[in-house]
Amino acid sequence: MDFGMKIICLMAPALFGLFVASCSKSPGEAEREKIDAIIAKMTLEDKADMVVGTGMNLSGTNEAASVVLADKLLPGAAGATSDMSRLDITPMVLADGPAGLRIRPNRDDDAGTYYCTAFPIATLLASSWDPELVQRVGEVMGNEVLEYGADILLAPALNLHRNPLCGRNFEYYSEDPLLVGKITAAMVRGVQSQNVGTSIKHFAANNQETNRFTVDTIVSERALREIYLEGFRIAVEEAQPWTVMSSYNKINGTYTSQSYDLLTRILRDDWGFQGFVMTDWLGGDDAVAQMEAGNDLLMPGNPKQKERIIAAVKEGRLDESVLNRNVARILHILFRSPRYKQYPYSSKPDLRAHALVARRAATDGMVLLKNREGALPFTGQIKKVAAFGNTSYEIITGGTGSGDVNEAYSVPLMEGLENAGYIVYQSLKVAYAAYIKDAKEKQPVGEGPLAAFMPKPRIEEMEVQSSLIKKVAAETDIALITIGRNSGEMADRKQEGDFDLTEREKSLIQTVSKAFQENGKKAVVVLNIGGVMETASWRDDPDAILLAWQPGQEAGNSIVDVLSGKVNPSGKLVDTFPVSYADVPSVSNFPGRVLESDINLAGDSGRDVFEPTSNKAEVVYEEDIYVGYRYYNSFKKEVAYEFGYGLSYTQFEYGNLKLSSNEFKDTLSISVEVKNIGPVAGREVVQVYLSAPSEKLDKPSEELAAFAKTGLLEPGRSQTLHFELSPRDLASFVTSESSWIAEAGQYEVKIGASSRDIKQAASFSLGEELVVKKVQKALAPQREINRMHP
Ligand code: BGC
Repeated sequence: MDFGMKIICLMAPALFGLFVASCSKSPGEAEREKIDAIIAKMTLEDKADMVVGTGMNLSGTNEAASVVLADKLLPGAAGATSDMSRLDITPMVLADGPAGLRIRPNRDDDAGTYYCTAFPIATLLASSWDPELVQRVGEVMGNEVLEYGADILLAPALNLHRNPLCGRNFEYYSEDPLLVGKITAAMVRGVQSQNVGTSIKHFAANNQETNRFTVDTIVSERALREIYLEGFRIAVEEAQPWTVMSSYNKINGTYTSQSYDLLTRILRDDWGFQGFVMTDWLGGDDAVAQMEAGNDLLMPGNPKQKERIIAAVKEGRLDESVLNRNVARILHILFRSPRYKQYPYSSKPDLRAHALVARRAATDGMVLLKNREGALPFTGQIKKVAAFGNTSYEIITGGTGSGDVNEAYSVPLMEGLENAGYIVYQSLKVAYAAYIKDAKEKQPVGEGPLAAFMPKPRIEEMEVQSSLIKKVAAETDIALITIGRNSGEMADRKQEGDFDLTEREKSLIQTVSKAFQENGKKAVVVLNIGGVMETASWRDDPDAILLAWQPGQEAGNSIVDVLSGKVNPSGKLVDTFPVSYADVPSVSNFPGRVLESDINLAGDSGRDVFEPTSNKAEVVYEEDIYVGYRYYNSFKKEVAYEFGYGLSYTQFEYGNLKLSSNEFKDTLSISVEVKNIGPVAGREVVQVYLSAPSEKLDKPSEELAAFAKTGLLEPGRSQTLHFELSPRDLASFVTSESSWIAEAGQYEVKIGASSRDIKQAASFSLGEELVVKKVQKALAPQREINRMHP
């Protein structure tokens, strides 16, 4: 209530009866009345218009684009909701995606440019283990959404890294659900602090691209709750995203967009989600079932869906109250949207300032995997650098598809070196430029509207004669060998030549390393990649390996900040790097099997226009909860680099571990001291793992329960980090009781610099079993799963 209203209420007792309603009404009640009044004025057709998006340009032509509302409002946006001025309903513009706002940079009859900042990929951001940093990235990303006139960003994406070959892993965060949830919540808070919305996606168990429109993910209730839903739960409970995007796949026989269990029982009843749910673009096949399940908005939307919904209401197959409920949820968010509030967007976000945030964020998520005899950072003697590898010159800033961004520029590694005053060996630079130009001209031109959307076939590494390598080794101070990988939506990666290095790449690393080492010089591999790959067979060759990920538009500058020591690397692995692909726990169940080829993709969503046929397919998650380090550690498998691993240019000492009690009651506090005992300032990611008793249920040998990152510690300085464990952190999901239960017994707390480098340990006990939360039974698999356990 504002001051003026207060005075009226106090001064006019005679009018009390009249004013009592407006004085005592809560904002929620007032909004509810407003929504009810709008719904009362709506025809059935209006309601169908509200729950079905306004379409998208599937033809790829500019002409068709101009007739789609989204494109008229913000060229290049992915979709829009209906414009119903009669009812005072403005459209909402929805645009991708996880690494920055994705819009078209150029417009017809307009000399202006509309570039956005390409931030580092999601996996890099998570590798910072720094929610504050991610929130900051979210703030500036959200500012571009606001200033370009979009209402909802179709991000963050947080499907779990189940298998390294998933083509969209770069858009997602990690193999650990706690880390996923905390990083997602930070991103949502950041973006939404700008008064625009997010859409956390793709809900849920969407862990592959092969047969993505149809695949049935068969997975246990426990693995769903503990692994695949947990990140979404944390994000919803901690950050209340405006919207959730359901996924393309089925879970245990039902499309997620048509699953009442998932979208209502779990998302709303169990977790208290307040916003609306939209489909992924063309997802699902039954508009009426989607309405009933609680998938409030169908995107991008087509007339057939409206007809189906209207007919179902008229024929009594769909209760109009279901439609009203969904409309109400959309309006609840619409009232918050900038377009509804007539925000005067500038189309001029501060791209320079945002580029600095992107540059900084990228350095903080890079992971130093190897550093023999302090090969890095560059010493003062390093002046001339030999840069090998195509992507030293054509850096990969991010993945393809809807996770791509149209940025104004990108900084290749070679340019980053020059910007920092290093001399790049010229004849190599010239040779690579000519080779890449020629290879690009020969690259096959893809066909159809999606060609530009898909990753182009990788240009094979240039063959460099060993005589030239020897010459370069004699004439320069250090070698950088960049290995690049790219992928994106609609296709998964392959093992051969993608997860594994090609023979040419291996021989390049080997020959260059040897030539430089023979000259008493170092060779450094820079991995410019979007997901996990094989390292065990070649990592002995170079002196150092920097996992630079796909670092966004400032790539070259960020990488050189780390190589030169301007920034001390502090990222740690968010995924296990296995010794070989054969070791991955889901190897025999990825990407599942085809049950029937080329089925007709009929349905209401219009996906048949886009893709007339697909395969009927299923994937069974037999590894169950043993994903990532939960598998490698529990099954005692050797790995190349373990979850949580990462080096620094300094060293840290851990000490003084204290638990508030050796018995758990309601909560338990943990503190530990970290000291920088090395030569330069640095930050350390501290991980708290918990080993729980497993009398009742098999459990992973340890699970991440908390984490924190120190501030920048100068040499000799220390910091005490504090953690709080809640009953939930102790609990596992017991399917037979549909409950999260903490088993009685001894719990071990392990403080690690990684999941396998445990620095301090202590234990506490839980006297009696705790039923932490009972939930509704939901999403039971349609058949017994042959589940893996130790
Ligand atoms: C992707 C989504 C994206 C949507 C809109 C779909 O193909 O799966 O992640 O938000 O397109 O572009």
